[in-house]
This record gives sequence, C-alpha cells and structure tokens, in this order.
Amino acid sequence: MLILPILLATTVVASKLGGYELQNLERNRYGLTATLSLAGPACNAFGTDASQLTIEVTYESTSRLHVNIFDTPREQFTIPEEVISRPPRPTTSFVDSSDLIFNYEPSPFAFWITRRTEPDSVPLFDTRIRSLPSTPIPDLTPNGTLINLDGFPLVFEDQFLQLTSALPFDTNIYGLGEAVSSSGFRRDIGTGATGGTIQTMWARNIADPVDGNMYGSHPFYMEHRFNDSTRISQSHGVFLMNSAGSDILLLTPPSSNVSLIQYRMIGGVMDFYFFSGPDPKSVIEQYGATIGLPAWVPAWGFGFHLCRWGYPDINETKAQVDNMRAANIPLEGKPSFRVIGLFLKIWRKVQWQDIDIYHALRDFTSDPVSFPAEEMRSFIRELALNNQKYIPIVDAALPKQTNKTDIYNPYLKGADLDVFVKNPDGSEYIGQVWPGYTVFPDWFRNTTQDWWTEALLNWSLSGIEFSGIWLDMNEIASFCTGSCGTGANLSNTTVDHIFPGNPGNPVIDYPECYDSAVWGPSGNISINGTLTFGCDSAPLSSSSAVPRRSFAESNTDIDVNTPPYAIHNGFGPLSNMTLATNATHAGGLFDLEVHNMYGMMEEKATHLALQKIHPGKRPFIIARSTFPSTGKWAGHWLGDNFSRWQYLRFTIPGVLQFQMFQIPLVGADACGVDGNTDEELCNRWMQLAAFTPFFRNHNERGAISQEPYRWDSVAEASRTAIATRYSLLPYWYTLFANASIHGTPPVRALFFEFPDESELFSVDTQFLIGRDILVTPVLFPNVSTVDAILPGRGEVVWRDFYTHEIVSPTTGSSITLPAPLGHINVHIRDGSVLLLHAEPAYTIEETRQGPFSLLSSLATNGQAFGSAFIDDGVSDPPGDNTTITFSINNNTLHINPVGSFRVSQMLQDINVLGVANAPEHVLLQGQTPLNWVYLGNLRRLSITNITLDLNEPQVIQWI
Ligand code: GLC
Repeated sequence: MLILPILLATTVVASKLGGYELQNLERNRYGLTATLSLAGPACNAFGTDASQLTIEVTYESTSRLHVNIFDTPREQFTIPEEVISRPPRPTTSFVDSSDLIFNYEPSPFAFWITRRTEPDSVPLFDTRIRSLPSTPIPDLTPNGTLINLDGFPLVFEDQFLQLTSALPFDTNIYGLGEAVSSSGFRRDIGTGATGGTIQTMWARNIADPVDGNMYGSHPFYMEHRFNDSTRISQSHGVFLMNSAGSDILLLTPPSSNVSLIQYRMIGGVMDFYFFSGPDPKSVIEQYGATIGLPAWVPAWGFGFHLCRWGYPDINETKAQVDNMRAANIPLEGKPSFRVIGLFLKIWRKVQWQDIDIYHALRDFTSDPVSFPAEEMRSFIRELALNNQKYIPIVDAALPKQTNKTDIYNPYLKGADLDVFVKNPDGSEYIGQVWPGYTVFPDWFRNTTQDWWTEALLNWSLSGIEFSGIWLDMNEIASFCTGSCGTGANLSNTTVDHIFPGNPGNPVIDYPECYDSAVWGPSGNISINGTLTFGCDSAPLSSSSAVPRRSFAESNTDIDVNTPPYAIHNGFGPLSNMTLATNATHAGGLFDLEVHNMYGMMEEKATHLALQKIHPGKRPFIIARSTFPSTGKWAGHWLGDNFSRWQYLRFTIPGVLQFQMFQIPLVGADACGVDGNTDEELCNRWMQLAAFTPFFRNHNERGAISQEPYRWDSVAEASRTAIATRYSLLPYWYTLFANASIHGTPPVRALFFEFPDESELFSVDTQFLIGRDILVTPVLFPNVSTVDAILPGRGEVVWRDFYTHEIVSPTTGSSITLPAPLGHINVHIRDGSVLLLHAEPAYTIEETRQGPFSLLSSLATNGQAFGSAFIDDGVSDPPGDNTTITFSINNNTLHINPVGSFRVSQMLQDINVLGVANAPEHVLLQGQTPLNWVYLGNLRRLSITNITLDLNEPQVIQWI
C-alpha cells in the first residue's frame, strides 16, 4: 500500500470531524469513569477509529491526577504491570483535596486540567482547541506540509492516536527525550525563528544525532510557567505511559499567541499522568513516585571509570594500570615499596572492557589467546585487592550457533529454553550484529530471566569476575533492515561493517580548531612546553542543527509492515537497523508495540541477575537504551558522542534531562568517544565530567589514546578535579540516597533551585550539584575565562569552593571568572553545611575510611543547614543508616545523628565561612575549649585538630 500519511492527514483533518462524545458518566470516590463514543463519521486517517472508548479519571494523590483513555474492548497494547508496576490505587479519596482538577466538555469531548487554587488561570493542559486560529499549521518539515487542527481534538485509531494541548505562548518546556537538542535543555516550542520540535520516540542505535531520535524514549515533560505579573513561577509535569512509536510535537502556529504540544502515537492507549509540582524538584519527585525511584548506587560507582574500545588484550589492559603508575604524581615521604601501590591506586579507577574481550565477538566469552580466562581472573582479583573494580560489556544480541562443532552454550541453552524472539510463524528471528547472525533474548518469556542469570553467572565463574555490567546495543540494534534470516547463509559470520581503525575506516576527525596538519596527529597542544590553542572560539556556534525531515515524504515506498502513519524515525522505516516490527515476543506481542522497552527490560533482567550473583550487593549497571523506570535498574551513559566542543556542551543538557527521567546516574564519555580528541578538549572534559554523577573516559577503536595520563596538563587537571570529587563524596552520596528515597534530582538546572529567576530558565552551561554546589565549566576552546551567572540576584553569597573567597554578587547578569586551563570554577552557596572527606585518597573505599571535615558557608543571617546520609555504601537492600544534621544558628553548630549505622570516621576539622568577627572562645559542649584560627579577610573560622564522634550529638559555640 502506498500512502502519503501527512498529506492524507491534511485532507482528513481539514474536514472537521466530530471526535468523541462523553456519555455514561459515573463519579466514584476516587474520580470518574465514562464512555466516549465516536461523535461523527470515522476519521480512519491511519487505521480504524475506535468506536467506543473508556475514560477513567483517578485522583491518585493530592499531586497526581491520572487520566486514562483506552479502547473499551481493551484490544490496544497496554504496558503490563509486570513490566512497569504502577503505584497502588488510592485508598482514600483525593477528589476534593487534589491540587489538580479534571474539567471536561462532553461534545466534542475535550478535557483540561487546572489547579484547584487557580480555577480561572490558563489550564495546565487543555485539549479544547477552539481558541486556535483556523489557519493551517505548518508541520515541522522543510517542505512545509500543512496540518489543520481546527475542530479535531481527539483521534483514537488502532494505529494512530492524536491529542493536542494548548500551551501558553513561549512557555518553558523541559524533557521529552532522549534528545541531543539544538535548543539545549529548554526545548524549542517554535516561538523563535525555528519551527519547534519533533521528538520522535523510537529507540535507535545511532551515535548522538542532533535533533534526531536516539537510544531512549521518555514521553515525560515538565512545564515551568512564569507569571509575568506576580513574577512567580510554578511547574507541573505530564507523562504519557505508552511504549508505541510516536512523534511529540512542540510548535507555535504562525501569528498565534498560543503554542501547542501534539502527541501522535502509532499504537497503545492515552494513559496520562499529571503532576502538580508546583516547583521543578517536586514535579520530578512526583514522576519518580509513579514510575519507580532510582536504584541505590554502590559508593564505588562514584569512582573514576576508564574504558576504551581497542585494548586488544589483557597485557594492554594491564598496561593501562602501569602507565598510570608512570604518571608524574608527587607522593612525598612514602616508602618506595608503597609508592608503586599508591600509584596503582592514584587513578582510583574502575577498569572497563569493551568487545575486544570476546572470543569471536560473542557475549559471555573471553578470547582464549588475548584474554585468557585464568589470567583475567588473577588480574581482576588484583584489582579487587586494590579496591578497584572491573566492568565488561554485554551486547544484547547473541550469535546463532550454526554448526555442530562450534559449541556456543549461551545460544544452545537459550534455544533449548526457547528464550529468543521469533518470527510470526514461530521460527527464530535472525538479525545481525558484531558476531554475525544473531538472535535476541525475549524478555517477555518466563524462562529468559533464569537463562540470562545463568549466562552471567557462568561468565563470572569462568574468570571474568565482574563487579558490574555495561549493557550496550540494546535499542535493540541489528544491522539488517528487518529480518536477515530468509535465504541468508547463516554460517557466514562476516559483517558488512568495518571497525573504526581498520583499513577502510580510519579515524581522522579532530575537535573543532585542532589543526592536525600543523600540530600532527597527537592531539597535543603543548608546543615546547607552552600551551598553545586553536581557533578563536567566538565564531563557534553553540550547536549546529541537522535539518529535520519527514520520512513520510521522502520514503514513498513504505513497507506494508510499516504502520500507515510514519513517525519521524531518523532511519526511515521502523525496521531499519533494528528488529522488524513483526518480530514476535511471547504472548504474540509484536515488536512494534514493545520496541521502546527492550533496553529497559534487559536492564531489569540484568539487575535481578546481579542480585543473585552478588547477593546482598547493589548491582551497578550502565546501559544505553532507556525507558521510563530504567532508573530502578540501571544508570545511563549519554551514548556515542563525538570528540568535539559541541558535544562537551551537550553534556550538561544530557545530564539534566536524565535527572528528570529518574535515571540520575548519568554522564557523557569524557574527552569524546568518536573521533580523535585533543589535549585542551580532554582537559576541560575530564574536569567537567568529574562533577557529573557517572564519570567515565571512553574512547573508540583507532582514535588517538586519551587516557588522562597522556598529557601532563590533562593528568594534572584530572588529579585536581578527582580530588575535589572525592572530597565531595559524602555530599554526592547523600544526594543519591535522596534520589533513591524521594526521587529528588541530585544534579539541578539553576532554575530548579531559583524558580522565579527567569533569566535562568534557559541556562544549561552551568549546573548545581544538589542545593549548594554551583559548577561553571569552560565549554569553548582557547579561553581562559568563563562567564557565569550566580543565581540569587545578589541576595545569595557565593564563595569559591577552593579559596573560600566571596565572588562579587550580581543581580542577574553574568560575571566573568578566571578559568585557566586545568581550573574548573566551583562555588558554594550560603546557608549550607557540607560534610566532606578531609583526605581524598586513592580509591573510594580508602577515601571512605578517612576522616571527615565540615565546610559551612553562613547565610547573611548567620544560619546554615546541611545533612549527610551514611551507610555501608554497598548493601542491597540498604541496611542500617544514619542521617546527621548540621545546623548553625546564633554562633552555634548543632550536630545531631539519627539512625543505627555506626559512623566510624571522626570529624577532623570544621571551616565556617561568613563568621563576622573573630571569636574569643570556641567551646565544645559549652565547656571544652577547641583549637581555632580566624582569618578576617575570608571571615573564616577554622576549628582544627579535633576528633569528634559523629555518633553523638555535639554542640560547638563560638563566643
Ligand atoms: C557501541 C557503544 C560504544 C562501544 C562500541 C563497541 O558503539 O556505544 O560505547 O565502544 O559499541 O562495543
């Protein structure tokens, strides 16, 4: 069938169909139910209209309203509870106490959501589109296909669902991902020169494209609405629980004073959750309470991770450790036999291993020649003795065994247990990935979990005694368009894909401004010991968007298996580079319906497997393709980025987005993975990445080496940044405990903390760690200063984290800070008390064993507050814990521990910044005098040489 979907939409939509009519309304203690009947002729635009729908409105809490519109016979796919569990149904009524109110008009049916406190304000979500001009609205395609939405509120077909809500003109929308968006963290809604956003939800194996669909799908957004007259803002959130391929459009019709969000799904139901906020952090917490809160991270996971594709054997992998040893890091006064050990540990690294480890590129193997299993076992145990970890890769697809002599047990066992995805006729579905022809685990099958656990366990028993797992290629990636099986010679394991670095695919790209013709291939920008720089950074735009295009128009030969409405999948037909849409999972589920959840389901299975393999220990998993609830099982890295300044800049929006998606353990490959890096970029990137939750340097095959010891300046910059990171570990750890307990995002956009400061709404070149730490990295080449906004409009005192000096307050405009190469600006907010590690050591474990120190920056009223969550850092489920609160008021610090975990490390020193005058006495518990020093220019009171037990309440006064 040959269809031009968008054109068809134009025709159909212009005919002003009636939508649905609400009938049989029944109110109950928790909300209401009703039916929606087709109110006029069927639309049948891209499928068949459902003649009857059911709407269920449930006030699930004071802050969460659930609006589920589904086909009454329930034939559409709905995400099963076993895959994503839903919050329990309410047991008390919130109908009269909910912050949100569901309003509707019966015919044509439309609904809108308001805040109880502001019934007359612009609704938060509004599917009445009467107010829109009847002029056609351009679709977001360069050739301007038109869609007219007038009088067309709701379409519900088996293969096409559409719902549109009005948004205030120029409002602030965040989320909808996974995206490397040319507009940054704040999404483009089309009020500027550009046409808005099409966010396509179709998991895709592609190196980070700008403005294209990619690894993960997250139909969740937050709107932050600023009231111009009150100068106060409020946030709310909207989540669509649907796994179908979809386009979510943000646009503003020409000459309109209203913007729109439009959902176009090719399956499933309209299962919406609305969150009332009213501030950014609470919206994110409310979303987390709905889909599930993030897994607890083992403390060691916050260490520095080193990886590359292209450590060809165990010797090269070990050589990384030796090379680290050779790095020139001063270690005064230590006996030489320890020096070696200390150098070994100085990089505190977790060693990763890419697919080089595999035998014939097969999961769960190690090559007998290059990575002999017993040698690997000893190597990993040696790492363990140094408190270091080892993480290998697992690709989602497994090779199909094709002849009897070449025994590959994971396949044979899996085939036996029938765990693989099938063709509609029941035969094994065959795709192709690195090892040649492959099969794909089907997570919907009952037998798959145990088989997967056993495969991982056997691998560990064979010698690859991993501490965590890296899950790759789980979009799911396959190199054929649809099935490769029919007629293929399955014994042929050659793949039409030249690895980078091999003849025919050299890695020749360098960062913007790096001139390899002048400087050679090394990436080194030090000439005769002096740093030199690339081009003038000014002309570098902050991003360069790839034009959007509609495959509906460019691919007229649509496969019959392709749903009639073609979402804007960057690969065109849905089956390109992944499974065919008719690949079949247990229960007869087509991949079409569940494609977007494949990665998340693998992450869940792996998490459950690791819980069995390492009982009582927290699983550590970093994965590529994500979906709502992934955070319960895994963290995420931002995929295959490029060694370019532009991608350094994309790190911050990427990290912020995943805070919203409840996958807070996230980071980008430092120094860039694809292409060659250079010294300057790697220097800045190692420093930025040290302040993001997941900190890994990863490199591709064939590129110049980029381990942090490769350049002296990068080594030094890394040492400084890593030491700061390690001193902040108790703070990071507390933030992640709060994420796992409450869903509070550890990393925050500036406006999360200062929601009424409208100049911050689009800032994504700086970020906050928690409430108190402001990070301002350098994101452009050839500069030695950086512009920063210090939030608080002059009313918040920000002090330099390293020197404790006050930075001149601003009133909303930016100031310029010194930022020589190797220095990242970090500031501490006033009113804060941070528990720090006094002696950042060689590994996380050793750091944790060392003493604490306290750093406080007083607010101008002399008050400050902070807390620290402490436990053993590893138990799963978490065991005993203690929360210590620190509060300062009237020149008195109160330390109050609550909980049953015994804190064995002592508090060694205390620095209080902002103490107006030198005290005469500093007393513990009102009587014991303590050692102290007061520095007038910094207004810093330093209490030193103490050994305070943090298990007991303590009171310290300065008089
Ligand atoms: C994928 C991963 C990348 C990895 C490579 C080889 O591209 O995203 O990180 O190095 O595969 O396994």
